[in-house]
Amino acid sequence: MHFSLIGLPGSGKSTIGRHLARAWKLRFVDSDHVIEERLGCSIKEFFATHGEAAFRDIESQVLAELLQSPDPMVLSTGGGAILREVNRQLLQAHSTVFYLQSQPEEIARRLRHDTTRPLMQGDDALKRLRDLLKVRGPLYQATAHYVIDAVRQNPVQVSRKICMQAELAGLLPSTGCCDAISD
Ligand code: S3P
Repeated sequence: MHFSLIGLPGSGKSTIGRHLARAWKLRFVDSDHVIEERLGCSIKEFFATHGEAAFRDIESQVLAELLQSPDPMVLSTGGGAILREVNRQLLQAHSTVFYLQSQPEEIARRLRHDTTRPLMQGDDALKRLRDLLKVRGPLYQATAHYVIDAVRQNPVQVSRKICMQAELAGLLPSTGCCDAISD
C-alpha cells in the first residue's frame, strides 16, 4: 500500500513527502517530476503549448502507473490530481490518502516569488487559490482517508502529525521514528 499526499499547490506536499519517506524508509515520488521527465519539458511550458486538458491526460496516465506499481512509496501529487474521478478512485484504492488542509492566505504568502506554477501566475494568486479551494475542497475531502490540519505549521510539524496518525492507525509498525523527523 502506498501513501499519497493531496492538497492545494504550495501546501507542502513535496517537502512533507520527503520527510515521511525518509522516516518510513520508503521511496519518495513526486508525480509532477515524473510527468516532467516524460514530457521532456517543464509543466509550465507544456501548459503554455498544449493546454491543461492534455496535461491532465498525462497526469492520469502517470498516476495510474505509479499507484499500480508494487513497491510501496510516498507519493506527492499535483494539486489538481483529484479533479478526475478515475484519479480519485485510484488514489483511494491503492494508497492511504492524506489531505494537507491549509489556508489560501498562508499559501499565497509562501508562493509570492514562485514563477514555476502555471496556475499561480499573475497578480491575484490569493483569489485564484480561494477559487481553487472552492472547487477542489470537497474533492480533497472526499478523496482523503485522513484530513490533516496544516494551518500555521511548518513541514516538520505536519510530517510528524501524519507519521503519528499512520502509526496510531496501525498503518506502520510503531518505531518511534516520528520524533526523529527534522530539517
Ligand atoms: C496544478 C498543480 C501543480 C501541477 C500543475 C497543476 C494544479 O502541482 O501539477 O501545475 O492544478 O493545481 P503542485 O500542487 O505541486 O503545485
